[in-house]
Amino acid sequence: MNDFIYKTGTLYCEELRVSDIAEKVGTPFYLYSKNTFTSHFNAVDQAFGDVPHIIAYSVKANSNVAIVSLMAHQGAGADVVSGGELFRALQAGVDPGKIVFAGLGKTASEIEYALKEGILMFNVESSQELMLINEIASGMGVEAPIALRVNPDIDPQTHPYVATGLKQSKFGIPLSQAMAEYEVAQRLPGLNPVGIHQHIGSQIMDSAPFENSLVKITNLARSLSVLGMDIKYINIGGGFGIQYTDEEAPAPDQFANAIVPLLKDTGCTVILEVGRMIAGNAGILVTSVLFNKQGEEKKFVVVDAAMNDLIRPSLYQAIHQKSPVAERDGAEELKVDVVGPICESGDFLGQDLNLPEVQPGDLLAVFTAGAYGFAMSSNYNSRTRVPEILVSGRKAYVIRRRETFEDLIRGEAIPDDML
Ligand code: LLP
Repeated sequence: MNDFIYKTGTLYCEELRVSDIAEKVGTPFYLYSKNTFTSHFNAVDQAFGDVPHIIAYSVKANSNVAIVSLMAHQGAGADVVSGGELFRALQAGVDPGKIVFAGLGKTASEIEYALKEGILMFNVESSQELMLINEIASGMGVEAPIALRVNPDIDPQTHPYVATGLKQSKFGIPLSQAMAEYEVAQRLPGLNPVGIHQHIGSQIMDSAPFENSLVKITNLARSLSVLGMDIKYINIGGGFGIQYTDEEAPAPDQFANAIVPLLKDTGCTVILEVGRMIAGNAGILVTSVLFNKQGEEKKFVVVDAAMNDLIRPSLYQAIHQKSPVAERDGAEELKVDVVGPICESGDFLGQDLNLPEVQPGDLLAVFTAGAYGFAMSSNYNSRTRVPEILVSGRKAYVIRRRETFEDLIRGEAIPDDML
């Protein structure tokens, strides 16, 4: 389900031609469809309609304030992992009462900031963090609502860099220690244990790992209620996989059909920290071909976007489909590497892929780039970060302008007495 569609050989985003937008803003740029964002949100919302739930949009997937604001307007809360993400969520108008704060290295100032803003809860990752939150909340004369992020030791069968619920992982409190930590939390005056949190990984293509881990999590919830703890929320994290190429990803209701029966009789509100499933296919990266280059063994298509704009192929060997924005009749398919201008051999957007022959100046669309695309981009090689454009029907909005060279050195200083 997305709004990037070819009509008579030309790629459209909703009702606008991608090539027209490229002419106005130059390349490279990220392009998002408002309708795809909202329809993905609604699909998740409806799929989990049988249980009380909050969709805490995972800000890290696509953190642009316009996108977070769009989600807030649909009724989403936010999953944040830093003071910066909390600031973004608040700027975007997210209800603090629907914000959960995750991350295993929260600082004292971040905790204080979140307490002042009255967020829904902290997802706590260690016993020392629990102590620090207690100390800060007590000092402020408030009770911090918390969930413990439990590590259920589940293999989500995804890329090792995005598997987070295995016992070897840095994340979460081992299930075997969770009861004891909850009892500590219950006794401490600055803490109010209200939830249980898990997040077992990302780009998970099957509901079985969720089912297996939620059996453990719901058992824990029952044991806690025997101890008299009022656990109101079960946060199942994010991680729902999506289609990048020709793999089959379960639809939101397929995940929900497997998961909801396990959660229904707990009486808890379910929190979902969905990122990729909402944002992934709602965005593309548009880049221009600079050169065709014939190496000794390989053909290269050199484009103006690079690993600093989209790092997923280099970092996770992720495959993002690519095709020319304007299809050319009878173009010969060639096996090529699509590479960027960065001075690293790891700078590629795709390797050994079949692409219709392209010429300098042609536009290429890199699909499924709405999640962890711009959000992970950098200024490496002093490349300016690209603009983000949001389309709604026939309108296109610049929701982040292209950076300038001045932006690159903003905040830097040459000490007066250095030379
Ligand atoms: N909740 C927590 C605690 C998380 O750590 C994450 C993602 C999410 C929710 C959202 O997960 P999603 O629904 O998007 O799968 N950069 C990687 C993905 C890293 C995911 C990190 N955590 C990539 O580009 O594949």
